[in-house]
Amino acid sequence: MRKVLIIGATSAIAAATARLFARDGDRMFLVGRREERLRATGDDLAVRGAELAGWHVLDVNDLDEQDAALKEAEEALGGFDIVFIAHGTLPDQSLCQSSVDVMIEEFQTNALSTMALLTRVAGMMEQAGKGGQIAVITSVAAERGRQSNYVYGAAKAAVDTFLEGLRQRLHKSGIGVTTIRPGFIDTPMTAEFKKGVLWAQPEDAAKRIHSAISRGADLVYVPSFWRWIMLVIRLIPRRIFKRIEL
Ligand SMILES: NC(=O)c1ccc[n+]([C@@H]2O[C@H](COP(=O)([O-])OP(=O)(O)OC[C@H]3O[C@@H](n4cnc5c(N)ncnc54)[C@H](OP(=O)(O)O)[C@@H]3O)[C@@H](O)[C@H]2O)c1
Repeated sequence: MRKVLIIGATSAIAAATARLFARDGDRMFLVGRREERLRATGDDLAVRGAELAGWHVLDVNDLDEQDAALKEAEEALGGFDIVFIAHGTLPDQSLCQSSVDVMIEEFQTNALSTMALLTRVAGMMEQAGKGGQIAVITSVAAERGRQSNYVYGAAKAAVDTFLEGLRQRLHKSGIGVTTIRPGFIDTPMTAEFKKGVLWAQPEDAAKRIHSAISRGADLVYVPSFWRWIMLVIRLIPRRIFKRIEL
């Protein structure tokens, strides 16, 4: 039985992953911003075998409230074996281009709120001295800025780089850091997109994420074929890349 904190627990990908932790009989604490969805997610996980330690309503952008949520979680669980951070939004790129406020708000949600949470969680886990695993969802969008979503991509890239440094820092404390880079997953976030062969379901993503966290992987692409797609995308020279409609 592992002690698992999930932030952004009502996300489709997080909830599907939580169902696999529930199947293992893990003890869980859920954090999210909508009470009724948190309650429903918690009830579902309990039915599936989770030991539910509690839940806390938090808008992750409320930085002053993050500490209280994390302390409540740590106390209710009795420490953290796994901390999984999954919240995020998909910004309207054109709005971000016309409004500095919207651009900053999106960067706040997708980068700074997560980096603030990680700063707090890392300190708590280091102090506890019991090792553990931190896992965060970034995106393949972190790897190259594209005109269609570079605010989202830049935010995910910031978190991705932050995680790489955090992994080095925490290695000596026996705390692993898993960076999760999904491609296209069919969730409420992407409800308006036309789906094709590259799309995966949250349940398939969850299997890969659950396995990566459980074995303490450093980096996982979801699904795995995105590793090769992104290798090709990264190899495109800038002088060509700037002319592509992506
Ligand atoms: N779907 C994809 O294709 C894809 C690809 C790459 C990466 N990702 C990443 O995967 C993660 C999960 O997304 P998903 O696809 O599962 O989408 P989702 O079902 O829409 O989940 C997003 C979650 O983030 C929560 N959230 C947003 N802003 C928040 C805030 N200020 N405070 C607290 N919670 C907040 C949402 O809460 P509410 O429900 O209350 O709004 C929701 O639970 C995100 O980090 C996303 O960027 C997704």
